[in-house]
Amino acid sequence: MDLIEKYRPEKIEEFIGNKKAVEDILANFGKKPLLLHGHTGIGKTLLGSLVAKKLDLEIYEINASDYRDVESLKKVLEISKQYSIFGKKRLLLIDEIDGLSTKDRGASKELVKIFKESRNPIMLTANDAYNPKLKTLKNYCKLISFSKIPHPSIAKYLRGICEKEEIIFNDVILRNLAQRCNGDMRAAILDLESLISGKGLLSSNLLSSRDFEENIFSSIRVIMKTRKLDVAMEVMGNLDRNPEDFFWWVEENVTKEYKGEDLKKALDFLSLADIIRMRIMKRQDWILFRYYVNFISIGVALSKKETYRNYVPYGFPTYVSKMGTMKAKKMELETKVIKLQEMMHCSKRVIKDELPYLEQFMEL
Ligand SMILES: Nc1ncnc2c1ncn2[C@@H]1O[C@H](COP(=O)(O)OP(=O)(O)OP(=O)(O)O)[C@@H](O)[C@H]1O
Ligand SMILES: [Mg+2]
Repeated sequence: MDLIEKYRPEKIEEFIGNKKAVEDILANFGKKPLLLHGHTGIGKTLLGSLVAKKLDLEIYEINASDYRDVESLKKVLEISKQYSIFGKKRLLLIDEIDGLSTKDRGASKELVKIFKESRNPIMLTANDAYNPKLKTLKNYCKLISFSKIPHPSIAKYLRGICEKEEIIFNDVILRNLAQRCNGDMRAAILDLESLISGKGLLSSNLLSSRDFEENIFSSIRVIMKTRKLDVAMEVMGNLDRNPEDFFWWVEENVTKEYKGEDLKKALDFLSLADIIRMRIMKRQDWILFRYYVNFISIGVALSKKETYRNYVPYGFPTYVSKMGTMKAKKMELETKVIKLQEMMHCSKRVIKDELPYLEQFMEL
């Protein structure tokens, strides 16, 4: 089941949140290229198709990262001057404009040419309108800022989906899901989908009420997405678990989010942090602790050249759960040994050595 696909709003009236931005778009439509900017997963791209539907336009969508060279943009310029084969106007949606390559300087110029010569309305989307790459382009556009979707609205939307799907749900889990996705509707729907099992919702241990309060997922999300030093530092200041735990959360999730050189750099910072931790333990030199904290947060956050814009479902550290399983196994072994010690009157070590044989014919 693809809930994102199934519950994608069909009309602009069904769009959640950012009402003022939607009004602004309709009021300024066609006057100037509109640059929709804001957090990921809040419906910027979606709005392109909803606006086109409302105004009866044919949508022509391009992803800026696929059209970064001048040659392909020249083709877009041609398209921007034509109407569709049915004589309809087109809405030219230039998506993810901050993915435009900085190497090809001509690309920006070509886009300005498109802005000036297009006979069709233009909409652009970006995560960060303050990205230096957009400095010139911005002057030709009207900026429309989108905010994160408030978590009560997300929870309401998720509730609606559960009701339509006839899924028995626990409201605490839904509110929890909505909170931890940091205003990102796409992430919330994907998380919901991953918890559906039959006609019910799994109450994953990732969503325990403890995690709900601590909101570790949003701390991880910030470290993974930000490239700003002060933002990464703030996360550590607000963290409500100890940094040693957080280390494993970062280690688990950075491998899901980062790629290539970025990942290598981030893992180097984590290994430095680990070396520092050992030094602190050995020498009790707590003055080093600030480096430990900074390597995990700032080091990892600034290891990426660009923010990754794809959705990544963050998860619980496997190391910690493995440690949990090992601990449980150890305890199980310990109870068996104690039980046998009472009968055999010998040392624990001897019993542990003999245990595999004893288990063949005894039920323990
Ligand atoms: N405001 C919203 N109301 C209803 N559904 C939404 C909303 N925002 C996102 N969604 C759901 O999430 C999906 C993804 O949203 P969309 O691709 O438009 O996000 P975006 O803001 O363009 O993100 P990105 O910056 O990562 O490109 C939509 O197709 C829709 O199913
Ligand atoms: Mg988008």
